[in-house]
Amino acid sequence: MNTDNTAPQISMSHESNLIVNVPRINIGVFCDNQQTGETVQAASIDRRMSKAHTTIQLGGIASAAQVYQGEATPNVVVVESHGDRAQIMAELASFAEVCQPNTKVIVIGHVNDVILYRELIKNGVSEYLVAPINAMQFIETIAHLYSDPKAIPLGRIVAFVGSKGGVGSSTIAHNVAWAISQRLNIETVITDLDLPFGTSALNFNQDAGGGIYEALGQPDRIDGTLVDRLMTKLGNKLSLLNGPSGIDREINFDAHAVETVLNVVRHSAPMIAVDVPNIWAPWVKQTLLGADEVIITATPELPSLRNAKNLIDMLKAGRPHDNHPRLILNQVGVPKRPEIPPADFGKAIGVEPSVIIPHDPQSFGLAQGNGQMLFEVAPKSKSAETLNELAEIIAGARPKSVKAAKFDLSSIMKNFSMKKKK
Ligand SMILES: Nc1ncnc2c1ncn2[C@@H]1O[C@H](COP(=O)(O)OP(=O)(O)OP(=O)(O)O)[C@@H](O)[C@H]1O
Ligand SMILES: [Mg+2]
Repeated sequence: MNTDNTAPQISMSHESNLIVNVPRINIGVFCDNQQTGETVQAASIDRRMSKAHTTIQLGGIASAAQVYQGEATPNVVVVESHGDRAQIMAELASFAEVCQPNTKVIVIGHVNDVILYRELIKNGVSEYLVAPINAMQFIETIAHLYSDPKAIPLGRIVAFVGSKGGVGSSTIAHNVAWAISQRLNIETVITDLDLPFGTSALNFNQDAGGGIYEALGQPDRIDGTLVDRLMTKLGNKLSLLNGPSGIDREINFDAHAVETVLNVVRHSAPMIAVDVPNIWAPWVKQTLLGADEVIITATPELPSLRNAKNLIDMLKAGRPHDNHPRLILNQVGVPKRPEIPPADFGKAIGVEPSVIIPHDPQSFGLAQGNGQMLFEVAPKSKSAETLNELAEIIAGARPKSVKAAKFDLSSIMKNFSMKKKK
């Protein structure tokens, strides 16, 4: 136990997605209750804990004292006790004899006792949690032990992906990033991961070349200085990290490279809009699973619905402690096209659309042709207004939770096939 540790009690926000990932450490957990064991088990498989190695056993403090008589204590030991103040202090005294000085100790107790808390902290315990705890509280407590209070807060990674090709995901990502940086004054970096075909340079009227190819090719050498050099300034508070936008180079990189680059980029700005191409590869899956927020853009058609549902189901299962992905319905109202009504679309995939963007070929076409944002060419259009609303929702300036819709795919299929027969 480290007697210098005076970590203050943390106020827990269960919805918080901005927790620093727990580093590659060993954690030994000794629960005294099945429910705590299940919570810690759920926490240990969370994306933010994927690098840590967590072992969980029952038996409380006494068991920890016994186990570590014969082996070194890991980086963190978490012990649970149902005892009162005197009992916890007595149990910890025997554990302290086997605990190494650099091991951090967290105690989970069942009494809400501020004197006990103070006594524990005075004796070198890093944190005292009152049961029942939840998974995010556990992750946040461990992460807090390893976060540097002087470090600049990390940027939020918002991944934009289309439910099929050409649905407008990149255009939405670029416009949202522009609005967040120019209207909400938040420093933003667009990271375009569509290396061969990305449109970020075109949409911002820039020369095609970009540095992300170089960064992904040497992920272990990348640092903040290199990232700064590879980025293109698009204006005040907005920068772009994009690929070569060409097919003359072979493009082949792995999930580790993308994760490493994004982890460096997130030190350079509070908002990172990641344009993820509509392809399926291990690095795409990892990027979506690892993002702080995922925005899925879909058009109101059946293939788009099926793919959006697959993506959302995968993300809900792989990110049980995160907000659900957001759904954007785009290009709604194409003349003569049979479309799935937005309410039915939301019900079918279990997430209501956060915003619905109309089919607006005039504004979007003009913006693309000019290499400008929609806000610049058609500021008063419904599309610009909706994109601005989306930017505010994503930046947290207009809180709007992701609403879960009641799942009902069969009625949509019926509805859609009936419409098609007309
Ligand atoms: N609401 C809309 N109304 C009309 N056109 C739109 C709308 N949204 C996007 N577009 C246009 O659709 C085209 C495709 O958009 P974009 O490149 O952003 O899609 P994407 O999902 O990123 O496609 P890709 O799969 O190629 O990456 C662009 O020409 C864009 O201007
Ligand atoms: Mg795209």
